[in-house]
Amino acid sequence: MRITVAGAGNVGLVTAVCFAEAGHQVTCLDTQKEKIEMLEKGQSPFFEPGLEPLLEKNLASGKLRFSTNPRQAYRDAEIIFIAVGTPEKKDGSVDLSYIYIASYHIAENIENDVIVCTKSTVPVGTNEIIKQIFQNRKPRHLKVDVVSNPEFLREGSAIMDFYLGDRIVIGADNPEAASIMEQLYLPLKIPIVVTDIKSAEMIKYASNAFLATKISFINEIANLCEKVGANIEEVCYGMGMDKRIGANYLQPGVGYGGSCFPKDTKALVQLAGNVQHPFELLESVIKVNQHQHSLLVRKAKEMFGSLKGKKAAVLGLAFKPETDDVREAVSLTIIKELLEEGSMVTAYDPIAIPNAHKLIGNSIEYTTNIHEALKEADFAVIATEWDQIKHLPLDAYIAYMKEPIIFDGRNCYALKDIQRYPITYVSIGRPTIL
Ligand code: UGA
Repeated sequence: MRITVAGAGNVGLVTAVCFAEAGHQVTCLDTQKEKIEMLEKGQSPFFEPGLEPLLEKNLASGKLRFSTNPRQAYRDAEIIFIAVGTPEKKDGSVDLSYIYIASYHIAENIENDVIVCTKSTVPVGTNEIIKQIFQNRKPRHLKVDVVSNPEFLREGSAIMDFYLGDRIVIGADNPEAASIMEQLYLPLKIPIVVTDIKSAEMIKYASNAFLATKISFINEIANLCEKVGANIEEVCYGMGMDKRIGANYLQPGVGYGGSCFPKDTKALVQLAGNVQHPFELLESVIKVNQHQHSLLVRKAKEMFGSLKGKKAAVLGLAFKPETDDVREAVSLTIIKELLEEGSMVTAYDPIAIPNAHKLIGNSIEYTTNIHEALKEADFAVIATEWDQIKHLPLDAYIAYMKEPIIFDGRNCYALKDIQRYPITYVSIGRPTIL
């Protein structure tokens, strides 16, 4: 099929590349000229494992092309995916202006009947507005079907999730459009759920809100474990064996970050408020998460009394491993609070430094060498569970730091390994090793 994807961000680009790889003729459109020029050379503007080789391959075969020109991109498309950004407004609601602008451009430039599929996460009811836009602006003789097709791709494993996802959700009012979408996805052999449009929109928010709830829940249990002397690792293992609970998304830590959970949870709270149905549970999930972001700095303050003049090594800047994305990363809160306390910070990350530098600037030092970050540090704070950190021999902390004191926000090390070294180790929901 002839597919156009509007937006070359994490979702749009992965979608475009993967559909091209599946044999479709794909055009990916973005308004940022620089980004498109990079992509035309086969370079991805962000890191995603496995993406660049597929990008290069499908550019070379002519299955994938890039454009900044809406006319060229939309004119003869059969299916158009909207995957543009939906940033958060100051009040926690969603800024839908890019979605609406993309819809205007589509309506003004199509020359065929088309299915317009919303991949971006949008509040329940948005696709109704998109439908209205087409009603008002499309050429009269053309048929536009609007479909909600939320994505469940995780950064860092997006390609794998595209091919091996748990389900594909298609929200459509017109069974004919739903059936074309089903045909498109059929070769992936992933279970397909067809719903009405509003339910599809809600599935996406409810899924992310539920996962965020699971994380805040287990973080609260971890905090409680510390108070009563239990070990969260054992607790998670015992809980996760119950199939109704499941062992996934039960990793305690310093809270969730990224471009999705923080934004989507706030948007759902906002949506619930708008219909006079306050979502108190989710409000607590958000509050617990914010509190968790500050946990390690609070613990460091408790240990040292004052952090003024202390040298801190922050290990990991990305919001999770295998990505260079630092949006809403816990590291940002940790660094901000350490600086407020008067500490000096050297941060390590294998790939996220350029993105972190754009937000933090020169108030800290950066390095891609862990040893360099640890050198003469009074304490280390682990914010991201990169393999490079998990596999760092523990004697490196002893060799490089002033005193080997670790605040591990991702429980990277087994307590029995730490016990073999003269290391002070504070982790999440497990006994402190002194
Ligand atoms: C999340 C969802 O997992 C995807 O299904 C969804 O498509 C995506 O949002 C989106 O809405 O676009 P993502 O934000 O890329 O994906 O990353 P996750 O792997 O879900 O991690 C989110 C955050 O939760 C990270 O900060 C991670 O460290 C944290 N987390 C995750 C935990 O603290 N504990 C866990 O057990 C799992």
